[in-house]
Amino acid sequence: MRNLEILTEEDKETLDLPRTTVDEVGKQNKKKLYIESYGCQMNFSDSEIVTSILQENGYATTSLFDEADVILLNTCAIRDNAEQKVRNRLKNFTHLKKKRPSLVVGVLGCMAERLKTKFLEEEKIVDVVAGPDSYRDLPNLFEEVEEGNKAINVFLSKEETYADISPVRLNSNGVTAFVSIMRGCDNMCSFCVVPFTRGRERSRDVYSILKECQDLLDNGYKEVTLLGQNVDSYKWASADGTETVNFAQLLERVALINPLLRVRFSTSHPKDITDEVLYTIKKYENVCNYIHLPAQSGSSRILKLMNRTYDRDWYINRVDKIREVLGEECGISQDIIAGFCTETEEDHQDTLSLIEYVRYDYGYMFAYSERPGTPAAKKLVDDISDDEKQRRLAEIIALQRKISQERNEMSVGTIQKVLIEGDSKRSADFLQGRNDQNKMVILPKGNHQKGDYVNVKITSCSSATLFGEVE
Ligand code: SAH
Ligand code: SF4
Ligand code: F3S
Repeated sequence: MRNLEILTEEDKETLDLPRTTVDEVGKQNKKKLYIESYGCQMNFSDSEIVTSILQENGYATTSLFDEADVILLNTCAIRDNAEQKVRNRLKNFTHLKKKRPSLVVGVLGCMAERLKTKFLEEEKIVDVVAGPDSYRDLPNLFEEVEEGNKAINVFLSKEETYADISPVRLNSNGVTAFVSIMRGCDNMCSFCVVPFTRGRERSRDVYSILKECQDLLDNGYKEVTLLGQNVDSYKWASADGTETVNFAQLLERVALINPLLRVRFSTSHPKDITDEVLYTIKKYENVCNYIHLPAQSGSSRILKLMNRTYDRDWYINRVDKIREVLGEECGISQDIIAGFCTETEEDHQDTLSLIEYVRYDYGYMFAYSERPGTPAAKKLVDDISDDEKQRRLAEIIALQRKISQERNEMSVGTIQKVLIEGDSKRSADFLQGRNDQNKMVILPKGNHQKGDYVNVKITSCSSATLFGEVE
């Protein structure tokens, strides 16, 4: 899953980061809620569920934290620096809490789930700790705080999918939206904290997903991104067992809602992505030609230690199949970890050669960060020095950047169908949108509006962006 916390500065400029919430004016008598999100799209999507639950319970949102009655940070635990960011942010609120002791500070999400009561011990300004499956309980937790206590709920559920909650679209550009189709993860990749912070994998009711997508379309949205840690293992069955839906079938049903509704999805696990999914992408014009397919490493030995359950050959076979079914122009992106336990120079070279082989459009690349309690932390030694991790990471990023540039240059001179998302961040004379392969395209404003599909002739590019003119 794309992790917003690790985007480059350039990426950030092109994204509407939902730092805060929409303002609801005229609700002065209500308690004011300020919410900030860190980590992956799932967390950003969860903040929209949290806001919905709290609005139902008499809270109004504000984008100004210093006027809030409740400040919530929806946190990420994926790497140590993600946690440090949250701890630093909490420091910013200390003076507010001193001035106004009635201010409630809550931490939600993966770091809350990982640290549990330790959060309350280590960060004195925190009043509420709530894990990803406990958001319906937030109003009760706030009540406990009003009674003078600290409040915590980190119970992980096997069933909770928040299927019936209509998310309040916080970071909305009014055109694209995230739709959560499953929660949790059962994979146990050895480096990863997610199975511990988000619990068992469960799939959301297909009808609630279809309804949410239809509602979005009815409200003017033109694109949905179906979210899960491993969307290819989506599996839903009706209560009487007569109807079952796998991911390819879900994708098809969402695609059939309306050809004007674009459909994206993230994340695909290389072990599970099926040919059926690839043929569904091919069959429907509105299912985007783009697959986020995290590799993590190009070395079979490292992949085994990571417990990814596929090897280099398997991964290459999946990429070959994508190219066979969807062609050279299908966008593919990666996640890669540099400097995992015992990684040798040879393993690192295997990663570089995999990047060369696949020719990814772009990627999200990280230095390995040991997470307490994970299988890798228990059984393996984090033995690659920080300097060495950084050197390997820099090589991986440089190679990816070169290939991204080359891949983008292939688009120059072609016509791309772009869904306009709004004004370009750099200039109000330009618009920005994305093409089928999820690439950002900048074009002169003309008479186009956000939400329009326009055919754009690409005239130039950088490694991150395409520039063009309307045909
Ligand atoms: N479910 C997705 C990944 C979600 S986490 C998948 O399986 O592909 C997003 C990315 O963070 C991962 O793909 C991985 O590259 C990175 N990541 C996870 N744990 C990490 C760790 N301990 N150190 C560094 N990067 C990590
Ligand atoms: Fe983490 Fe692996 Fe699950 Fe992805 S599939 S969330 S990397 S355990
Ligand atoms: Fe996402 Fe971070 Fe949790 S990447 S699932 S918010 S640990």
